[in-house]
Amino acid sequence: RARRQRGRLLDLHREVARYLHEMLFTREATHARDYLKSRGFGKDMAVNWQVGWMPENPETFLSWARTQNFKRGEWIEAGIFVEKDRGGIYVRFRDRLMFPIRNEHGDVIAFTARQLRHDPNSGKYINSPETALFKKSKVLFALDRARKSILTEQAVLICEGQLDAISCHEQGITHVIATGGTAFTPDHAKLLRRYAKKALLCFDADKAGIEATEKAFRVLAAEGLPVRVVRMPAGEDPDSFMQKHGAEAFREVLGNAVDFFDFKIDRASAAGLLADPQQRLEFAKECTSLLSLIPDAVIREGMIQHVGTRLKAGTIELRDAVFRTARAAK
Ligand code: CTP
Ligand code: MN
Ligand code: MN
Ligand code: MN
Ligand code: MN
Repeated sequence: RARRQRGRLLDLHREVARYLHEMLFTREATHARDYLKSRGFGKDMAVNWQVGWMPENPETFLSWARTQNFKRGEWIEAGIFVEKDRGGIYVRFRDRLMFPIRNEHGDVIAFTARQLRHDPNSGKYINSPETALFKKSKVLFALDRARKSILTEQAVLICEGQLDAISCHEQGITHVIATGGTAFTPDHAKLLRRYAKKALLCFDADKAGIEATEKAFRVLAAEGLPVRVVRMPAGEDPDSFMQKHGAEAFREVLGNAVDFFDFKIDRASAAGLLADPQQRLEFAKECTSLLSLIPDAVIREGMIQHVGTRLKAGTIELRDAVFRTARAAK
C-alpha cells in the first residue's frame, strides 16, 4: 500500500509540474517570464528545468486540480493544498515561479517556489513540506543531472541556491548541486560520497554562508571527504557572480579554491587574530577540533603539518592536541 501511495504521489507531482510549466507560457504569466528574463533565463532554459508558474488566482489552479484523478487527501499529503483549521483548504503557492525538485533518479518530488516581487509578509522562497517523497535533509537539488559529472570530475561543487546550481549547469559547469539553504546534513554527505571523492564548497559570500561553510566542513570531513572552499567577492553567490563577471571568471574562481584550513586561517589572519599570541592559541585550539574530524590518518597528518606551519605552532604539540580531542570525542 505504501508503494502504491508513493506512486500516486509521484504521479501527482509529475502532473503538477507539467501543468505549471504550461502556465508559464500563458498571457497571465507575462510578468513571471519577464522576471525570468531579468535573471538571465531564456525560454530553452525554462524548458530545460521545467520552470513553472503558479497562478495568482487560486481558482485557476483549483479548477484544473479538480479535473485530475487525485483525492483531496493526496493533494494535502503532497503539500500542494494546505488544510485550514476550519476544514477548508488553500493552495500553498501563489503567483510564484515553481522549480521542480527531483530525486537522484529525476522524478519530481517537491517544489521550491520563488516570489516574483518582494513581499515582506511572505518568504522569498516557499518549499514543499516534508512528505513521504521529500525529506529535505536527504535531497540535493540537481543531483539527477550532476551525478555523471561528479563521477568523472571526482568532485562535487556544493551551492546554496537552486538558481546557483541552474546557472552553473547552463554554463557547462555540471558537477554542481544545491542544498536549498545553508543546512548541510550527514545524509547529504553520505549521498555525495557515493559519487564524489572531494567537495568544493561554494556557499554565498555572506555571514550565513561563511558560518555554514565551517559547519559543512565538519559534516563532510566526518564522512571522509576533503573540502576546498571557493572564494567569491563579498555579497556574491555563484549566480550573481556569473551574471556580473561571466562564466569564465567563475571558472577561474573555482580554480583558485583553497583548502578549508587555508580558508579558515586566511580569514583569521585578515581579522588580525593571529598577531596576538593568546588569540592565536585560541585559534589553534579551534583548528585542533576540526583537524580531529579527519578520519584518514595520512591526510590528517599532512593537514596537521600544514596548519602547524601556517600557525607557527609546534607540529608535535598540535598533533598531540588533535589526538587528545579525537580521543575525548570517542
Ligand atoms: N531559501 C528558502 N527560503 C527562504 C530563503 C532561502 O528556502 N526564505 C533557500 C532557497 O533554496 C534559496 C537558498 O535558501 O535558494 C539560498 O538562499 P538565498 O541565498 O537567500 O537565495 P538565492 O538562492 O540567492 O535566491 P535568489 O538569487 O533567487 O534571490
Ligand atoms: Mn529511489
Ligand atoms: Mn544565501
Ligand atoms: Mn544566494
Ligand atoms: Mn542568488
